[in-house]
Amino acid sequence: MQKSDLLLDKTVGFIGGGNMAQAIGIGLIKKNALKPNNIWASSNTEKTLSVWKDYGMNATLHNYEVIEHCDIIFLSVKPHILNEALQTCKSPSGVFKGKLYISVIVGISLNVLEEKLSKIDENPKIVRSMPNTPMMVSEGITVYCCSNVPEAEEKIVKTLFSLLGMCEKISESLINSAGGLTGSGPAYLYTVIEALADGVVKKGVPRELATKFAAQVLVGAGKMVLKTEKHPGQLKDEVCSPNGSTIAGISEIERGGVRSSMINAVEAAVNKSDELALLSIKD
Ligand SMILES: NC(=O)c1ccc[n+]([C@@H]2O[C@H](COP(=O)([O-])OP(=O)(O)OC[C@H]3O[C@@H](n4cnc5c(N)ncnc54)[C@H](OP(=O)(O)O)[C@@H]3O)[C@@H](O)[C@H]2O)c1
Repeated sequence: MQKSDLLLDKTVGFIGGGNMAQAIGIGLIKKNALKPNNIWASSNTEKTLSVWKDYGMNATLHNYEVIEHCDIIFLSVKPHILNEALQTCKSPSGVFKGKLYISVIVGISLNVLEEKLSKIDENPKIVRSMPNTPMMVSEGITVYCCSNVPEAEEKIVKTLFSLLGMCEKISESLINSAGGLTGSGPAYLYTVIEALADGVVKKGVPRELATKFAAQVLVGAGKMVLKTEKHPGQLKDEVCSPNGSTIAGISEIERGGVRSSMINAVEAAVNKSDELALLSIKD
């Protein structure tokens, strides 16, 4: 039996069908892990739902319908919308029983999720995760932790995330910290790709080629780190010949403070997640 077979008979839903939800939903379809008609999504407006319908998935403006039809339900609204969304998740025919909920919402703790979900489900199984949008192309990273999730169901969660990239279970105390890199990191690197492309456009390379080259350089560098398991500093040294062009470039990177910008960017995102976590406790 293939790993993805674990998902074949499952129905997966998304409360909040925006960017992150689409990355996971579309990623699963591209991997043939689920049939489109086994996926449900809800949203606030028809505009967002049309994307889901275009892929043959089910889309509704009623949140409770997603829970009613699905075994696994992603909570994928913005943090400040969660309360409002859950209010329209209540089953018209009583409470739900023992569904598996996977939150991708930044900053909302398992305790807070438990407290909120127990109002709509008498035995909610809960995963708190921080995924990222490259899951759409099966190159994502998800970090997660669980509460009240039996081993067999955790295996399904792990399978789902692993089909779309790397997946690590970590302590809840590290989720916000890791998310400052995994969740937000693609945005930082899109900026880097754009900037690298600008550099060669300045030297005459057409924009389309420049962007393609810059993206592949990032893919290649990432794979070198993962596959060789060498320290990134060593890999950098290996391509810097004395008095060469690469060390001249590195010198400019250091002059521009790129390292400290990256460290500060991750730290700012983590601090913001911590702030959101505090707000969710006060709610
Ligand atoms: N984007 C990322 O890279 C990323 C990475 C990791 C985690 N996350 C987390 O993912 C969550 C969603 O982020 P996103 O970037 O996907 O945001 P988004 O694109 O704005 O998606 C949020 C969706 O929620 C829908 N919504 C609003 N009110 C609703 C309600 N009452 N009931 C049901 N759906 C409702 C919106 O619908 P309309 O479009 O119809 O208004 C929208 O489709 C956030 O909590 C974020 O922390 C995002």
